Amino acid sequence: MATQLQRASNATTTPSFDASFRQSLADLLAWRRDVRRFLADPVDPAVIDELLDLACLAPSVGNSQPWRFVSVESPERRTEIRANFEDCNAKALGGYAGEKAAIYAGLKLSGLAEAPVQLAVFADEETEAGAGLGRQTMPETLRYSAALAVHTLWLAARAQGLGVGWVSILDPARVSGTLETPAGWSLVAYLCLGYPVEEHVDPELQRFGWQARDAACRRVLVR
Ligand SMILES: Cc1cc2nc3c(=O)[nH]c(=O)nc-3n(C[C@H](O)[C@H](O)[C@H](O)COP(=O)(O)O)c2cc1C
Repeated sequence: MATQLQRASNATTTPSFDASFRQSLADLLAWRRDVRRFLADPVDPAVIDELLDLACLAPSVGNSQPWRFVSVESPERRTEIRANFEDCNAKALGGYAGEKAAIYAGLKLSGLAEAPVQLAVFADEETEAGAGLGRQTMPETLRYSAALAVHTLWLAARAQGLGVGWVSILDPARVSGTLETPAGWSLVAYLCLGYPVEEHVDPELQRFGWQARDAACRRVLVR
């Protein structure tokens, strides 16, 4: 059976995105959450394959498609990643004091122990794809492009009922060592994926009193 992507790519007429689709898209954006509580239920590898296909539709500087995925499956490497997180998290906690430290200590900041699927996403900073278009002035656009692949995957996963949690409390050089990735790849995201224990529309960090929505994000300076 054709995948959703194959059906989309083989369509001969321009799709019409009607009001009902727009509402569903708004629902998807509003209900995409960073998840860190996962069920142990396995995820069909075909679903992950499809998510990766969809992530590859993300925009990229010069069409360079610099995202590189590593599926972290070895228990030993997962244990090393967890130790990396625990060290970095303890260090981060040490940087807070008082009430902020107490809240930080109570937050669950990764699902590394439970998530059935773990994907590290890198940007290949040495790719020749795109022939440098757009990145001679802003080399960081390669990483931005990889971040967009992450977001695309995140939304596609949510549409399948899967949760994604982005872990950045990691020493990136240590992650690269653990995963033995090529020298030119820089870590953009370490993702935990799986079916979520719970669904809620409000972000976890808002729920637990760390950070509510910030009105500054919606302000527009007019010049
Ligand atoms: C670049 C990036 C790095 C993040 N790193 C972490 C992390 O290490 N641990 C964590 O619990 N959440 C992490 N998050 C998730 C954010 O905390 C979360 O997206 C934010 O609180 C908003 O919640 P929402 O994604 O549910 O809207 C990260 C998110 C982004 C975009």
